[in-house]
Amino acid sequence: MQVVIDILENDLIEKYPDILIILLRDQTTQKNIFWATNNYIHFGELYKFNSEISPELITGEKGHVIMPRVQKDKILQLSRSKEMAEVFTPSWICNAQNNIVDNSWFEKEGVFNNEIVLKNGTKSWQTTQEKIVFPKGKAWQDYIADTRMEITCGEAPYLASRYDTTTGAFIEIGNRIGLLDRKLRVVNENADEPSQWLMATEIAYKNIYGFEWQGDSLLLAREALLITFIENFTHKFESEPTLEIIKNIARIISWNIWQMDGLKGIIPNSCTGTTKVQENLFGEREYVSTFCEGCFQNNIKKHSGIYCNIMDWNIEKPIKFISLLEK
Ligand SMILES: C[S@@+](CC[C@H](N)C(=O)[O-])C[C@H]1O[C@@H](n2cnc3c(N)ncnc32)[C@H](O)[C@@H]1O
Repeated sequence: MQVVIDILENDLIEKYPDILIILLRDQTTQKNIFWATNNYIHFGELYKFNSEISPELITGEKGHVIMPRVQKDKILQLSRSKEMAEVFTPSWICNAQNNIVDNSWFEKEGVFNNEIVLKNGTKSWQTTQEKIVFPKGKAWQDYIADTRMEITCGEAPYLASRYDTTTGAFIEIGNRIGLLDRKLRVVNENADEPSQWLMATEIAYKNIYGFEWQGDSLLLAREALLITFIENFTHKFESEPTLEIIKNIARIISWNIWQMDGLKGIIPNSCTGTTKVQENLFGEREYVSTFCEGCFQNNIKKHSGIYCNIMDWNIEKPIKFISLLEK
């Protein structure tokens, strides 16, 4: 796979047939993820808000339809910021915040990198080169199995940092700062035998979650996590993983990076109201409208929409996302 920040869906479908189909799957509805934005409506009927994204809509002549925010034109960027609060976080901030999580886990600072200011004043980081040492009572396996989630993940820069989402600059594997990247660094440093590496990597992916409203960003996030896997495998073993291995990781990603309105725990815009015609006391026909109780009362437990499922990998069973809020 080339070193490019925009993973072209044509390349994906040509090189890894079936994978795009898995990456487009919505595991709650058992349909495909959908646009959930009107940004693509100028391409036609099948690109309107509620339409599912299918491979034909984004491959072939339409292979460039989906592109990272940094490559979208400025007017579109602005309207997405206005409508969906879409402002992406620079890598150095993602790094600084991810460091806070790790400082707490390791009970010390500077484990993965040290934050620095370059001569031109820009903030960055310097990756530590020595093998990571784990604190007393914690093993490397505990780190990869510790669950992390990026809420409203956009293109998931806190999880996988293949490129800086604000500048588009590619980031080498050895210098990445995402929560998944960090787990993979730990796996790369501790597991040399392919089956052990694969098993550990699978655990790492099963413990990385993220959700997003807009279908295009969601697909980009899923692609970024998948290509991160292929890049790491190739980096470690100097050969590409088989299609079966890639499919397994793609399936985990299709569960763990999902489409959801995070304020409601449901598939975006899936709440419905109804309008019934009934007779009143005087025999007159009247229209009675009901609204979604959850939307009306701003109560996350009472929506009429489709509540999203996520996979609990410990029991290998789907659970409702909102059930986590009770824990
Ligand atoms: C501020 S951006 C952050 C993206 C990414 N986490 C980052 O830091 O670069 C916000 C993202 O939230 C998404 N979003 C906005 N409202 C949402 C909602 N109710 N549920 C899920 N995602 C939402 C937008 O589509 C957008 O991609």
